[in-house]
Amino acid sequence: MQSPGSKKNPWEDHYTVKARKEHFPARSVFKLQEIQQKVNLIQKGNRVLDLGCSPGSWLMLAATLTGPAGSVVGIDLKPVTVGLPSHVRVFIADMLALPDEISEAIGSQFHVVISDMAPSTTGNKSVDAARSFDLCQAALTTAQNRLLPGGAFVCKIFQGEDSDAFIHRVKSLFNRHRIFKPQSSRKASREIYIIGLNKR
Ligand SMILES: C[S@@+](CC[C@H](N)C(=O)[O-])C[C@H]1O[C@@H](n2cnc3c(N)ncnc32)[C@H](O)[C@@H]1O
Repeated sequence: MQSPGSKKNPWEDHYTVKARKEHFPARSVFKLQEIQQKVNLIQKGNRVLDLGCSPGSWLMLAATLTGPAGSVVGIDLKPVTVGLPSHVRVFIADMLALPDEISEAIGSQFHVVISDMAPSTTGNKSVDAARSFDLCQAALTTAQNRLLPGGAFVCKIFQGEDSDAFIHRVKSLFNRHRIFKPQSSRKASREIYIIGLNKR
């Protein structure tokens, strides 16, 4: 029961409560979980690169899925403060201006690249979609350069006038693609996930 005078967070929903109960720092974990169930994305022993990884829910789930025989590398503008196992490394960096030394340290030969990067939203749909598109382009270029052949890619995009061009680019780099709106994604959100499988 709510304490008298306390205000309910309007964004709090079933997934927020479930994430807290399961000790994940963000409800977004359930989106990756749904993607995992749909396409069996991450396997034991995989090397995974997570772009826009803070506050760390996807890192936690990816680390469990790879197990200690695999590894997970995360990058974000912001730090990750949750406890993570030793096969996870996190770099604080801007994916739109990645310094050379971090770019080298991240490495390549990944089996999976996932991007949940999101710009700070302005409320203006076309500005937000254009910023999301820039992040998606950076994520896809990263996947192009750092994924193994046969590798997989997942990327969040805010739907806008450039989404079709982005989907087209994913299609040209991967043998199979899916467009997915997870149940756990808020209905009002314009986000969708583009999945590329079996990199050419
Ligand atoms: C929705 S959150 C990711 C949540 C994360 N998947 C999780 O489950 O904890 C989006 C993240 O993208 C990051 N981001 C936005 N622009 C970025 C950029 N240019 N470079 C790196 N990270 C960026 C933000 O700092 C933010 O932490």
